[in-house]
Amino acid sequence: MADKLNLQLQVWRQDSSEATGEFHYYSMKDVPVDISFLEMLDILNEDLTKDGIMPISFDSDCREGICGTCGFVINGIAHGPEKKTTVCQLHMRHFKDGDTLVIEPFRATPFKIVRDLVVDRSSFDRIIQAGGFISANTGNAPDANSILISKDQVEDAFDSAACIGCGACVASCPNASGALFTSAKISHLSKLPQGKVEASERVTNMVKTMDSEGFGSCSNHAECEAVCPKGISISNIALMRKSLLKSII
Ligand code: FES
Repeated sequence: MADKLNLQLQVWRQDSSEATGEFHYYSMKDVPVDISFLEMLDILNEDLTKDGIMPISFDSDCREGICGTCGFVINGIAHGPEKKTTVCQLHMRHFKDGDTLVIEPFRATPFKIVRDLVVDRSSFDRIIQAGGFISANTGNAPDANSILISKDQVEDAFDSAACIGCGACVASCPNASGALFTSAKISHLSKLPQGKVEASERVTNMVKTMDSEGFGSCSNHAECEAVCPKGISISNIALMRKSLLKSII
């Protein structure tokens, strides 16, 4: 395998949410295969800056695949072609010399484009806020064994808690549904005894907020699970529906 790549990039450029966007074309030469996708964009941005062109805006923070800040669509797939991988952890060795890469922002009505590849995902924050609190006593650190939880139960809750809120699920759903994200955030609390007290209120408020933010209904395509960098299961959605039905009844 070549250790350097020549690439053609088609990048969505848009000055603001009100402006009209379009693809801009860039050629990149000798891109090292061992750098990440974001580092490749960093190199492109340095070149653009030298040429007096506004660099491409994109989100990133940890660059370790744990914060959920990064995210855009590469050749039609949210976070690109590698399974369970965020764009900050996607390395250029997964592409071939001469590839054309089409890079565009997550597109969904509740995710307004801020600039270029940056979208506003604050609707996710408002869904979490609607979930409220859990009834855990504050004060001194509680005895670790005061509420016994089985290993299976803990691991099940942790699998849901692994959601990093990147929004790839929304971007890949034909209905721009926020069901995978919302259900993961509901499940990671309701699967534990500490989160059961307000479970009914939580699911009602979070689903209501999800709907009012403009997310569509779950389309049952399971594309969200396929692109999720953390492998969040759609079984969370079934659990959310069951809890919602229970709370309504
Ligand atoms: S920058 Fe944190 S997950 Fe990608």
